[in-house]
Amino acid sequence: MGKIIGRTVLIVGASSGIGAEVARQLAPGGNRLVVVARRARELATVAEAVRAAGGTCLDIAADALDPQAAAKVVESAVEAFGSVDIALLNAGQGPDMSMEDVSTDDVSRIMALNYDVVVNYLIPLIDQMKRQPAGGLIAQTNSLAGLMGIPRQGPYSAAKAAARTLIDAARVELAPKGIRFTTIHPGFVATDRVGTDGLPKPFQISQEQAARRVIRALQKEPANCFFPWPTATLVRALRILPARLSALVLRALASR
Ligand SMILES: NC(=O)c1ccc[n+]([C@@H]2O[C@H](COP(=O)([O-])OP(=O)(O)OC[C@H]3O[C@@H](n4cnc5c(N)ncnc54)[C@H](OP(=O)(O)O)[C@@H]3O)[C@@H](O)[C@H]2O)c1
Repeated sequence: MGKIIGRTVLIVGASSGIGAEVARQLAPGGNRLVVVARRARELATVAEAVRAAGGTCLDIAADALDPQAAAKVVESAVEAFGSVDIALLNAGQGPDMSMEDVSTDDVSRIMALNYDVVVNYLIPLIDQMKRQPAGGLIAQTNSLAGLMGIPRQGPYSAAKAAARTLIDAARVELAPKGIRFTTIHPGFVATDRVGTDGLPKPFQISQEQAARRVIRALQKEPANCFFPWPTATLVRALRILPARLSALVLRALASR
């Protein structure tokens, strides 16, 4: 697949960070963007930047934790533009959270913030894309942290792993209907939200670099995409090392 031109692209989690940057970078090329997040003012600023760069943009303030609101967003996108060609499910967050200190409520909250927010859009999007002659692409911003249990990010790792697994099943089942799924696994990205969280961030990249990688994944539609390569290679190595060895490395990294 080539450049993203003249498409309807829904981005959930577009008021800041990677999602906002993807929206800005997709603005040229006659794309129709639907940007969604809870903070209406930040979202309106992103929408204005998209329009100023030549894109069409509908901004909708909605909480992805609310399944009815998510279904309504998909409906509004279709009402406005006739279809959803590409959806990027980007909402999520992974605060520094040690297993020594978390409560059961903390774990449930992080699961909701990174898994329920995906499910609430996945279901209405599948329903919509089944009815579109060309199907559609559903991409999710996952994380390299979703490939293994990362210290100080355990609940986040678990929630991202759950989302990846659900999407893996959907990919196989829905290929005959023309619905494609791409799971995107960034390493550390320098967005405002993670700037002061105190976690060590080896091989961190800028949000502009991350957005370019995300857009490339939307163009090429791999099942999974991993970046940047040093962090992706480190995670791959840690997954094949004996558990005792990988635990030593992870403990050393987490305490830096
Ligand atoms: N930064 C990193 O190092 C990194 C690394 C790997 C993966 N990721 C993933 O990349 C994605 C984007 O993160 P980011 O770093 O760009 O952080 P960010 O700036 O906080 O972006 C998160 C976006 O999701 C929205 N959002 C969060 N909860 C939502 C909800 N319940 N309903 C609707 N929108 C919601 C936020 O907007 P509102 O607050 O306005 O709702 C914001 O637009 C996340 O899924 C994150 O897990 C980030």
